[in-house]
Amino acid sequence: MARIFVTRELPGPALARLKSSHDTTVWPGQLPPSYEELRKHTAGAHALLCLLTDRVDAELIAASPQLRVIANYAVGYDNVDVDAASARGIAVGNTPDALTEATADLAFALLMAAARRIPEATAFAHSGQWKTWEPASFLGADIYGATIGIIGLGRIGQAVARRASGFGMEVLTTETRDQHNFEHLLRRSDFVSIHLPLTEGTRNLINADAFALMKPTAILINTARGPIVDREALAQALHTGQIAGAALDVTDPEPLPQDDPLWQAPNLLVVPHIGSATWSARERMTQMAVENILAGLDGKPLPYQVPAQLFD
Ligand code: DGY
Repeated sequence: MARIFVTRELPGPALARLKSSHDTTVWPGQLPPSYEELRKHTAGAHALLCLLTDRVDAELIAASPQLRVIANYAVGYDNVDVDAASARGIAVGNTPDALTEATADLAFALLMAAARRIPEATAFAHSGQWKTWEPASFLGADIYGATIGIIGLGRIGQAVARRASGFGMEVLTTETRDQHNFEHLLRRSDFVSIHLPLTEGTRNLINADAFALMKPTAILINTARGPIVDREALAQALHTGQIAGAALDVTDPEPLPQDDPLWQAPNLLVVPHIGSATWSARERMTQMAVENILAGLDGKPLPYQVPAQLFD
């Protein structure tokens, strides 16, 4: 019987498979274990099922001599030091595909909500200020016929592109390596949506220089990772009207502290990292993470092994 540490209760029935076949400890808290707790529990474990809120760094890996497999409950795995794990022969898995469509839906929901000012209009209606139909109230941006710039054309970027085509949008795409394309996309797009992993190459990719290229009517959507956007530059761009709005599912850090100046920026919509939050996506993610753990403990290749190299 192997020892498994799972850092949170997870939706769906799949976790029961681990509990019934192995000595499985599930962190009971609503908040993640502290780094020290995580380290303490992983130190004696053969397998770790962790979340994007858990920092699994080289130090923690070095302090876990029996660890054989790490299954991250996310497609992104910037929280795991994959090089340190690989150097020790520890397999690392993630949950690709399960959340592609859910995250693309959320990106599009944010785009539409920001363009059509849904949060403001909802608050207005609820507050009793709605007196009559007004010709010039809550005017927003057109989606049909607008141009969307999709940065990162992996699974989720492609799924957003399909939705955008269905809405009659012009779709521009780029990978970060292509500077010319990147700048062209920023200059031309009415909506810019980020779909890249967080790496040293993508950290602060959307910075003051990027905002300087964007249209004053542009809306930024980020459902990828918070640190890809320089949050001070974003606050500045919103305050000065360099761009028209931003809709974020991810922030840097998470949660964004209540006293962070970004909260004061106009035309900012924030939701609490819910891109994959549909029943089926989250249950499928549990299933994939469990399959990764069981394969890793059996010494088999993981069915959902992280790619050998993150692109930047
Ligand atoms: C991921 O999977 O990387 C998302 O951010 C959470 O589901």
